[in-house]
Amino acid sequence: MSTADFIWLNGEFVAWEDAKVHVLTHALHYGTSVFEGERAYETEKGTAVFRHSDHLDRLENSAKLFYMDLPFAKEQIREATHELISRNGLRSCYIRPLVWRGHGPMGLDPEDNPVEAMVAAWEWPSFLGEKAKEEDITAKVSSWRRISPESLIPQSKAGGQYLNSVLARIEAKRGGYEEGILLDDKGHVCEGTGENVFIVKDGVIVTPPQTASILDGISRKSVMEIARDLGHTVVERDVARAELTLADEVFLVGTAAELVAVSAVDDIEIGKPGEVTLELQAAYEDALYGRSERYEKWLDYIHPGSIESVNAPVIQRITGAAARS
Ligand SMILES: Cc1ncc(COP(=O)(O)O)c(C=O)c1O
Repeated sequence: MSTADFIWLNGEFVAWEDAKVHVLTHALHYGTSVFEGERAYETEKGTAVFRHSDHLDRLENSAKLFYMDLPFAKEQIREATHELISRNGLRSCYIRPLVWRGHGPMGLDPEDNPVEAMVAAWEWPSFLGEKAKEEDITAKVSSWRRISPESLIPQSKAGGQYLNSVLARIEAKRGGYEEGILLDDKGHVCEGTGENVFIVKDGVIVTPPQTASILDGISRKSVMEIARDLGHTVVERDVARAELTLADEVFLVGTAAELVAVSAVDDIEIGKPGEVTLELQAAYEDALYGRSERYEKWLDYIHPGSIESVNAPVIQRITGAAARS
């Protein structure tokens, strides 16, 4: 993994190698963290974070669902992210904000543990590999079911919940596939380990709904809007497992992976990236790289400079209701 010079940690910019936490950090033991995965892209008008405020809203909601208030206002995290990208000299990068229960009382009740925050940003190509973005990948339906709303919270991007994705991803990789696709607890198609899934059948684009235990993906929302703007019919409904393999086209979307075509599921060939996939992939990339006026609304151009010295605690931690403003 490539590194960068600085990480923003609890209000300060610290050197990458100094961004440390105590081994008794609550989140390390019990998974009590929430995070985001964002990307910034180099556009003609400078570097821009894609749908930054949507990611920060989801971070806040993820935290809320696990009884945490963000320790900094969203606007402060946004400004710090701009500054971080600039100080790290990054043009295009992956951005990882994380909020977690820190070092404090041990045990399952975390409410007296401090809530801490950091943002890291570094260069990270599409996580399924550049090859995957340009070509296609193979997937296998996982033997693991996606976490159920009866025991956890699929809508929250919470650290501990990702053990589910980790298991499915290891299984897929060891089986010789690039990605695993999880079914929900009812046996309907849910999503990839870190992406939402779409199928195309007879010209109609179909994707599982919120009630299928998906993460409310920001790429998913963007691709649905782009597809509708291009005149496609997009339907959110339950998808049966067999529909995946009988689809004309299957593709995955997520911030880390971007838009990736799936050429085979469970060793049954779907084929090379289809017409709709390629059309959406091109339009989505135009949006990400600022080549589309229509989707300029999604770009948060970085404007560093409001934060002065490197190590000064320039951003004061806030607590309680003020953090939610
Ligand atoms: C489980 C899961 N589903 C879907 C997604 C796609 O979400 P987004 O498009 O917001 O990155 C992600 C990535 O964050 C994920 O981890």
